[in-house]
Amino acid sequence: MEQDVNIKIIDRDGVAHDVLAPTDMAMNLMEVVRSYELAPEGTIGVCGGMAMCASCQCYVISETELPEMQDDEEAMLSEAFYVKDNSRLGCQIQITPEMEGLEVELAPES
Ligand code: FES
Repeated sequence: MEQDVNIKIIDRDGVAHDVLAPTDMAMNLMEVVRSYELAPEGTIGVCGGMAMCASCQCYVISETELPEMQDDEEAMLSEAFYVKDNSRLGCQIQITPEMEGLEVELAPES
C-alpha cells in the first residue's frame, strides 16, 4: 500500500490520531475520519459529503498545500459555526499523495 499517506487527526476531545489514508480509493478527509471512527456516527458527514452541513469542518494545522476552495465550500463555511481562517470542509478534500504529513483538528460539533 505505497499509495497511503500519513495524516494526523486531532479529534474533538483533543486526542491526536496518526492514521493511514489511501490515495487510490477516491476517499475524502471526512470519510477517513468516519472510517477510523474518530467522531461519533451522526456527528460528521451528516449531508453525505455535499458541502451542505459543515459537520465535517476541520482546522488545517500543517502547511500542507490543499486544493483550493470551491464556491459551495466557501458558502457553507460562511454560515457555519466556529469557523477560523484555517477552516476547511473535510468532505471537499480528496486524499492525494501530496497530502503526506497533513495535520488537521476536527472542529467542535455545532
Ligand atoms: S459532510 Fe456535510 S459539509 Fe462535509
